[in-house]
Amino acid sequence: MKNLIDICDMSKNEITELITLANDIRANPEKYAEKCKGKKLATLFFEPSTRTRLSFEAAMYELGGNVLGFSEAQSSSAAKGESVADTVRAVSCYADIIAMRHPKEGAPLVASMTAGVPIINAGDGGHNHPTQTLTDLITINNEKGRLTGHTVGMCGDLQFGRTVHSLIAAMSAYEGTSFVLISPDELKIPDYVREDMIEKNNISCIETTDLESAVPRLDILYMTRVQRERFFNEADYIRLKDSYILTPDKLVSAKPDMIIMHPLPRVNEIDVSVDDDPRACYFRQALYGKYIRMALILNLLGRV
Ligand code: CP
Repeated sequence: MKNLIDICDMSKNEITELITLANDIRANPEKYAEKCKGKKLATLFFEPSTRTRLSFEAAMYELGGNVLGFSEAQSSSAAKGESVADTVRAVSCYADIIAMRHPKEGAPLVASMTAGVPIINAGDGGHNHPTQTLTDLITINNEKGRLTGHTVGMCGDLQFGRTVHSLIAAMSAYEGTSFVLISPDELKIPDYVREDMIEKNNISCIETTDLESAVPRLDILYMTRVQRERFFNEADYIRLKDSYILTPDKLVSAKPDMIIMHPLPRVNEIDVSVDDDPRACYFRQALYGKYIRMALILNLLGRV
């Protein structure tokens, strides 16, 4: 693997190997503490981030490497009109690997065409977020013991939620996956996701607006935020933002071993009173994100 632009760039075997490596890093951090000595990661974030950028940076430091970059477009020469292609071509002179987030769908793919070093898509607009998906897959694997045979409920903004699109693509490859897609009618998954990933793979899928009636059948409940930054119209965002708020009473009928995931940040969609439920694993999920990104950096730099 040279770049990671789309989760579909990775085979199931490659994902399994990455999860195995991430779990070994977690168990034996000292073995990996100098693996990236002398190497530099550039984090080019043209859009806000907490977890993705900081977990990438923590990952590189814990591998013995260094980090440079910017956390907003305004502090880079993008503010002067520089193209993504030129930016990454220049940054390739200073860094060995680049993690890039951009509001425009396809920007990391464009970057990969001119960069002289591996490019990692750290989220492109409402399109894809493959390293969040790797985070989600290691979370499911470790918390549920396997990646096959799960009924996955995805709830919230399924139209603009890039983590949803990437996770559907990834989970569609695992035997026995079925989806329950819970959203307001206005925020259903895009047609290309339904057609290219779910229908093409003959995956069982139900679309509903009703969270409470869906909960009892789920092995995994993946909550998502309504993506204010993707709406053209603030009034639509206000109308839809609190469509679903997960509270303890809505979990009474859930399976005892159902896990509750969220890529974070959350706004209102999971009440803080759910955080103490042992099935809530969204903060553990954020920690898994650091280990899987360490494994990804090692893989892309050929330091495994
Ligand atoms: N999950 C995720 O991408 O979080 P950030 O936007 O904080 O990076």
